[in-house]
Amino acid sequence: MNATFSATDERMMARALALAARGLYTTQPNPRVGCVIADGDTIVGEGWHGRAGEPHAEPIALREAGDRARGATVYVTLEPCAHHGRTPPCADALIEAGVARVVAATFDPNPKAGGGLARVHAARIDIASGLLEDEARALNAGFFSRLERGRPWVRLKIAASLDGRTALADGESKWITGEAARDDVQRWRARSSAILTGIGTALADDPRLSVRLDADHVAPLRVVLDSSLRTPAGSHVLDGTAPTLIVHATGSEPLDSRFDRVELFAVDGGSGQLDLGAVLAELARREVNELQIEAGPILGGAFIAAALVDELLLYLAPTLLGDTAQPMLRLPALPALDAAARMTLVEQSTCGPDLRLRLLTGHPDVHRHR
Ligand SMILES: NC(=O)c1ccc[n+]([C@@H]2O[C@H](COP(=O)([O-])OP(=O)(O)OC[C@H]3O[C@@H](n4cnc5c(N)ncnc54)[C@H](OP(=O)(O)O)[C@@H]3O)[C@@H](O)[C@H]2O)c1
Repeated sequence: MNATFSATDERMMARALALAARGLYTTQPNPRVGCVIADGDTIVGEGWHGRAGEPHAEPIALREAGDRARGATVYVTLEPCAHHGRTPPCADALIEAGVARVVAATFDPNPKAGGGLARVHAARIDIASGLLEDEARALNAGFFSRLERGRPWVRLKIAASLDGRTALADGESKWITGEAARDDVQRWRARSSAILTGIGTALADDPRLSVRLDADHVAPLRVVLDSSLRTPAGSHVLDGTAPTLIVHATGSEPLDSRFDRVELFAVDGGSGQLDLGAVLAELARREVNELQIEAGPILGGAFIAAALVDELLLYLAPTLLGDTAQPMLRLPALPALDAAARMTLVEQSTCGPDLRLRLLTGHPDVHRHR
């Protein structure tokens, strides 16, 4: 749809996106969506989706707007839904309210929910889409990835020294980065639907993989890749305090009660390693939108080598650990320098004394999967 947008349109959609972001930690598995209803330059109603099962952004904004919705423009960051899910169709509510125009930032990739713009248009209401679409897709990178590619958006988090080392030779890695960086990681965990690690890290660090954050959030699924079920009894990930999935190789079955409080899932480990594509497909089936990997160099390297990482979240501490310490990633040797894949640096900031880099492994418009 080739629509032209005014400065007011842009301002209103930017506001709708800011509202959508309020659901960053809570809408999982639903997308983060915001809505603004405006009469010209005046906002008459606002809303955002807070939690799955609760009202969508549009009915909340319509309720605030009341009669002033008639003849107004609706700005919504995702196409209004056209289906009866846990709530009635938003497209119908907009039609009933008598709005004059609906502007969506992007279409809904969910085949069950999409089609709302067409339904609104059929009721002779003006429609437009594509306003601040890149921003809208980036906010819901995981939701779009799951529905368009059948796998979550995969973020690999690494804390390293300046010389790219992630643990001492004996496995000690607590702590390379400072408190501010570790607090920052908690926020990235909170927006993730799942946190994944490997058995190497589970054995070395006994991580909790939980979110320690005051803000309201949905507890992410904890996932451990452990082909031969070596996770020791008493490990934090087996304590039943958060939903947990232990992925193991087909054929290795638990013979004791260690795994009574978690779920087990078997994937093909025929080649000696778990099929990572199958792991991601299963996580998508479980409605995991954003997956955060917090593993060591072996599993992190395997995900990178399989081209299954979308985003690198890298904390660099101003210290040197030397070449006997563990590397950032174990990767196969390159035949030549120009065979090295280049990433795109999209953000650089500091967390206390540490540097935080965010990189995308694909093209900058990697949020478009179609
Ligand atoms: N600085 C950081 O950001 C950071 C973060 C996490 C960990 N660490 C450090 O990393 C160290 C552990 O690293 P690690 O490399 O030994 O452990 P890891 O990467 O966490 O786990 C590796 C294990 O995962 C299992 N695995 C299952 N499927 C796999 C697949 N498809 N490909 C590769 N591995 C697969 C393998 O064991 P099975 O074959 O038995 O399944 C493999 O040995 C610790 O010292 C920890 O402190 C540092």
